[in-house]
Amino acid sequence: MCSIIGYLGLSTAAPIIVKGLKRMEYRGYDSVGVATFSNNQILVKKGVGNVLEVNKNEKLDELSGTVGIGHTRWATHGEVTNTNAHPHPSSSGEIAIVHNGIIENHEELKKELQQKGYEFKSQTDSEVIANLLQYHYDKVKEIKKALLNTVSELKGNYAFVAVFEDGTLTAARLHEPLIIGIGKDGYFISSDVLGFVEHTDEVIYLDNREFVIINSSGIKIFDFEANPVQHQITKVSKEFADAYKGEYAHFTIKEISEQPTTIPNTANNTRLELDLATDFIKHAKTLYITGSGTSYNAALIAKFLFSKYAKIKIEPIISSEVQFSPDIFEQQSILIALSQSGESADVIEAVTIAKNSGVKIISIVNMMTSSLVQISSIAIGLNCGPEIGVAATKSFTSQLAVLYKMVDKICGGCINLDLSKVSESIQKILSDHSNIQEIARKLKDVSDIYVLGRGIHYPIASEASLKLKELTYIHAEGLPGGELKHGPLALMDSNTYVIMINPNDSTYSDTLTSAREIKVRGAKIIGISDKPSEVYDHWIEIPQVDESVYPFIEIVPVQLLAYYAAIEKDTDPDYPRNLAKSVTVK
Ligand code: F6R
Repeated sequence: MCSIIGYLGLSTAAPIIVKGLKRMEYRGYDSVGVATFSNNQILVKKGVGNVLEVNKNEKLDELSGTVGIGHTRWATHGEVTNTNAHPHPSSSGEIAIVHNGIIENHEELKKELQQKGYEFKSQTDSEVIANLLQYHYDKVKEIKKALLNTVSELKGNYAFVAVFEDGTLTAARLHEPLIIGIGKDGYFISSDVLGFVEHTDEVIYLDNREFVIINSSGIKIFDFEANPVQHQITKVSKEFADAYKGEYAHFTIKEISEQPTTIPNTANNTRLELDLATDFIKHAKTLYITGSGTSYNAALIAKFLFSKYAKIKIEPIISSEVQFSPDIFEQQSILIALSQSGESADVIEAVTIAKNSGVKIISIVNMMTSSLVQISSIAIGLNCGPEIGVAATKSFTSQLAVLYKMVDKICGGCINLDLSKVSESIQKILSDHSNIQEIARKLKDVSDIYVLGRGIHYPIASEASLKLKELTYIHAEGLPGGELKHGPLALMDSNTYVIMINPNDSTYSDTLTSAREIKVRGAKIIGISDKPSEVYDHWIEIPQVDESVYPFIEIVPVQLLAYYAAIEKDTDPDYPRNLAKSVTVK
């Protein structure tokens, strides 16, 4: 959730760190801080706000020193305050740390350390790492031993980077990502390659239960049993260079606009895995599919596709719910796990539970270096490039593309899938935003939006409402059209907007009937359809396409609508409040 970064090299650390934090801001952005080692002391600056704001107020990038650490926070323990922002110095100030994850036994450790005279200032679980390191360092006066003793006492999931009073940079990892960059004139440690990709493409992926010590004499990696570890240096894909906004005002609109390219490119990097996965699926006893948020909405679409075209039943389960029905999984079954980041804690937990029941895992992932890929039998890459906007857009349509490809393969081409035609239709929608921008203006002061769809369009209605919530902060709800008269109709009045996902297919006339029932209660109707109707107050025209592929086409106008409504409301579409791109905590 949070992003952490460290640098040790020949250049001044703070500007490099601030730039890296800006690039990783999608991971968490309620407060920011930097600590550097300069003139034999550790200097810390931090504040509440996003990277640009805090840097402007606190001049983070003016800190001196060639060793430093930095952090953007997504609060879990303790409110969003200056004191709770990272880095956290130890009580003597000789060590400072930044942390991503959760220390489960922080309360016990804090009590013990307080009894030993170590002082705490914040309400965070993270500060315990700084004081625990300090305690062990005070005892043994050796960094490696202090780290070993510290990690042996910490419980939970974490990645932390620490800077010591002698300018040594260290980091440790347990179930949270940590990547080392090997540059020409310095070392980087970061939660994400994006934190340093402009400086080097040579990286080492630290494994779980490993820590690293970097100083002027070089870099040493050890496991938690103190054994030295050798790692291959890997070159990261050039695709990371795409992580710039270019001519676009925001990443979100850039990523929405990329869909005509990303959809046909989907899974091109993992064609063999796709073939293998379809073979596995054909022979599975039972098939499950899981994900969180947008990825779960894609899982719901899969349910329709698999049953209609492949004649295979697939059971969707929300990842965070799996722990409450652990007995659900049967032997010789397959769980398909959908995740853009491959790091969502809920998804990883669901997969772990399934694996323990003997289930094989097929993951559909964008970040092929993620934890989910490592624990899957087969991993299929979305191949849609980095998605920086916190709200999932292009990764959703790429997830759909993989699922459509799978089903089309299983049913022997019965969908007649032509993703380049899908792209052309999306390009048509993207070629003129003016109508959608106009409608977005009307949503500015609206308090409730309902999105209705029937059949396969219901998961699209859910996904549409998720985009509206995230980007506009307007209450939005996706409903199956037929459920309207069983309750939600009571909410319809002249202050309400209802979006009807209403393509001209077998759901068309029933959805139009629902629209009429709503209209007479005074609510305003936005129809997303390839067929006009007098019942719509606003019509967003979508191109006519083969009935099977409407879901690709109908989500794009809502992505645009949510984006432009966010602009109207002056919220930041890339970094919605309270959210983070990769939800690595439960
Ligand atoms: C919605 C959104 C979230 C994610 C969810 C799962 O726009 O971004 O709901 O879809 O947190 O994330 P991944 O797919 O990375 O597991």
